[in-house]
Amino acid sequence: MQSEKFLEVHNLKKSYSVSTGAFTKSNRRTVAVDNVSFALERGDTLGIVGESGCGKTTLARMILRLIEPDSGEILFRNQNWLRARGSDLRALRRTMQMIFQDPVASLNPRMKVGAIVGEPLAVHEPNLSRRDRRKRVAEILELVGLGLESLYRYPHEFSGGQRQRIGIARALILRPELVIGDEPVSALDVSVGAQILDLLAHLQREFSLTLILISHSLPVVAQLATRVAVMQKGRIVEIGSADEVLGAPQHPYTKALIAAVPQIPV
Ligand SMILES: Nc1ncnc2c1ncn2[C@@H]1O[C@H](COP(=O)(O)OP(=O)(O)O)[C@@H](O)[C@H]1O
Ligand SMILES: [Mg+2]
Repeated sequence: MQSEKFLEVHNLKKSYSVSTGAFTKSNRRTVAVDNVSFALERGDTLGIVGESGCGKTTLARMILRLIEPDSGEILFRNQNWLRARGSDLRALRRTMQMIFQDPVASLNPRMKVGAIVGEPLAVHEPNLSRRDRRKRVAEILELVGLGLESLYRYPHEFSGGQRQRIGIARALILRPELVIGDEPVSALDVSVGAQILDLLAHLQREFSLTLILISHSLPVVAQLATRVAVMQKGRIVEIGSADEVLGAPQHPYTKALIAAVPQIPV
């Protein structure tokens, strides 16, 4: 039996025009993502690693259709995702969610956590009773390790790690199938970040999520990824199972990234 490919990305490209001065109209363009292709099976955790500016966020935003690619194709569960319209588009949108680097910037400071986490439900399942919505919010808060008392508190009352848990709860409340974490632990202390990565691994199993974990840090990606893609200047220069890429890197850039990781003295 041929298994359904969960996500296929074919030849995605995106360039931005760069202004070279305040008064010059320039046609110079910078290629942010250059002909990227890869495929994911359901349940994979793909780590995308590469230095700042290599195009990771641009790629993530195209996969979620937050920005349009210049060219290329994306198949999500064999459907042409970039052409989806109307109710198909809405149905697919809720199955894909993003976790951001800085949850505070994406959390409304004047809303209580209960309302922030429940908002996607209010939008996508408006017929749910208040009681059922509250129940779903309480369930997801518990799953991310936050107590019920957090329902009535504001984002600024939480630590960075707790705020990331709020962001994760909000991303997961619609039970998405694909979650993209774009530098989800980069703003956190290493130990707090490690707890958030543990939580993501736990939730991935709990919800059978397919996860794309984006980071400039190889150790972060190595902690969770089953597959690793290495990006450099808009291109994927190496992709494979985490064991292959991290254990027997082929590309010089991958080798340099691995060599740059400080070894723990024994
Ligand atoms: N909205 C934008 N307008 C112009 N250039 C952009 C924009 N977003 C990103 N870029 C450029 O595209 C390249 C890739 O950026 P980005 O996708 O943010 O990389 P990363 O997430 O890996 O740091 C960089 O050169 C960046 O300056
Ligand atoms: Mg980025």
